[in-house]
Amino acid sequence: MDQRLEDNFESELWKEFIELLFKKAEPYLLVRGDILHAKISHEYALSLMKTEGGNRKIIEPAVILHDVGWSALSPDEIKRAYGVNAVGNDESMRLNRIHEKKGEEIAMSILSDLGYEPMLIEKIGAIIRTHDSGHVIGSIEEAIVKDADKLWRFSKRGFQTEAERQGITHTKLYNHLSKNRVKWFFTRSALQIAEQELKNRKREFL
Ligand SMILES: [Fe+2]
Ligand SMILES: [Fe+2]
Repeated sequence: MDQRLEDNFESELWKEFIELLFKKAEPYLLVRGDILHAKISHEYALSLMKTEGGNRKIIEPAVILHDVGWSALSPDEIKRAYGVNAVGNDESMRLNRIHEKKGEEIAMSILSDLGYEPMLIEKIGAIIRTHDSGHVIGSIEEAIVKDADKLWRFSKRGFQTEAERQGITHTKLYNHLSKNRVKWFFTRSALQIAEQELKNRKREFL
């Protein structure tokens, strides 16, 4: 990795690197239509870091690349693996683990091809490997990636997209998010954002 990338996150070089990562992730993210999800989750991660801290060199690549593993599943498997209606079912959990494991492999290979620092690649890979399943948090970076991923559902575009892609009503999705919000989030800031977003979604959609 270019040494000038070190610790200057306002630099053009870092911005270019982030853009490049989105470009490398794009073909994989297109499979489930996740480009907007990655962009919005990335925005939430940037906000969360302002209040919670964390290492951007781990958080930003992890959040951008976290869902590239859906590309390893067929459209039918993706449908069975994910969403309100898939919760708790063994088959959905098995398929969900595949998107995590494949995501880890693809993300690590993208970062390695770009010459990213091996120690950081390991940490990013480990976060992606359990981004949807792990209930124990090993670091603030992991907490922020998981929270930013979940916050997508609470955003306006995420709420609309998820209701449509899962074939459920706005009310059903709203109730699902309301019910699970406390157990999903690891940081206080994410829960606060989610509560505010829920108020907005209620006003807009219900
Ligand atoms: Fe995921
Ligand atoms: Fe995700």
